[in-house]
Order: sequence, then structure tokens, then C-alpha cells
Amino acid sequence: MKPRIALFISGTGGNALNLVKACREGRVGADPILAVASTPKAAGIEKLRDAGLVVATVERAKDTDDATYSRLCLGLAEAAGADVICLAGWLRRLVVPERWEGRILNIHPGLLPAFGGPGMYGMHVHRAVLAAGVSESGCTVHCVDNEYDHGREVAVVRVPVLPGDRPEDLQRRIYAAEMDLYPKALAAFLEGATPG
Ligand code: GRF
Repeated sequence: MKPRIALFISGTGGNALNLVKACREGRVGADPILAVASTPKAAGIEKLRDAGLVVATVERAKDTDDATYSRLCLGLAEAAGADVICLAGWLRRLVVPERWEGRILNIHPGLLPAFGGPGMYGMHVHRAVLAAGVSESGCTVHCVDNEYDHGREVAVVRVPVLPGDRPEDLQRRIYAAEMDLYPKALAAFLEGATPG
């Protein structure tokens, strides 16, 4: 049986849909079984439902702590029988219990560790890259542990920073690289991973 994946989103769902497509086209040997959205405002909810996926929305209540919220979200993935979770534009902190160690992946729109950590998401990453004056950025697929953007690197692609780049330009170039990288990284990861 193919490993089952759950997709966690907070935004457009672009990366999640891209993974669903790669699975259905046989480029990734996995079955997408569920999506979890951290907010009902996530544009990806409708797109993923249109693609035939069950999407659950789990908003974090103000008086809920990270561990409780994580238990709820991971519990849904477990109840659906997920072997692996792919964070795809997910913006909430997850507390990773031992049984999920090494089975949650994330894609980060920058090179790690230099351009990761708390507060380093979305345009913040691209602005920091331009402010640092470096000639390269990129995107990274890594395992998720209990530190932000810290777990084992699975795959990375480097993307040039071009003269005159605005954060939006860099974002567009890196996002295009993500579309290629995440399915390939997931496929390679699953080949080496034993589904639980
Ligand atoms: C992506 O750039 C990804 O690297 C980051 O979230 C961004 C938005 O993803 N983790 P999506 O458009 O919701 O797929």
C-alpha cells in the first residue's frame, strides 16, 4: 500500500495542490488523504475540495497552547491514517511528539539556517535576503522538529538573486522552484522512509 499523506495549509494551497497532482500523476508514490487548514480564510480550502480532498479547518482558539493545538491537528491526520504530513504554507507552530519525528516535512522559501527561524516566513524571508546583499537564495525541504526551520534537510535548490530584484521578484522565482522541488523531495523521502 502506498504511504498516505496529509497536507497542512494556511494559504493559497499552491504547494499542496502541486503535491496532490504529482501523486495522481504517479510522480510521487503516495495517496493524499486529507488536508488540514489552520484558518477558514485559506484560499486553498476550496481548491483542495474541488480536487476531491477532504479538508478540515482547525482554528487555534486564543486560550489554546501550541501543544493542545498540535494534538488536535495531528490527531486528525492520525485518525485519517496518515503516514506522513507535508506542511505546505502552514503558518502555525506544531509541537512534534516522538511518534511523528521524521515524518513531517516542510518547504521553506529560503536557505537554512541563515534565513530561517521565528518570524522568517513569506516576504520576510525575501526582504531579509535582499537586505543581506547575498547573491543566492533558494528553497529547502526539511523534516520538522521542535525548533523553527531546524530539522534534517531533505533537499535544497539554490536560486540566484538578480540585480534590481524586489522581494516580489525573488518570491516568484523561488515559488516556481518550489513547484519543482517539493514533489521530487517528497518522492525521494518516501523511497527512503518506512511508512508507520
Ligand atoms: C511557500 O513559499 C512555502 O515555501 C511557504 O509558504 C509559502 C506559501 O505556500 N512555506 P502556498 O502558496 O500556500 O503553497
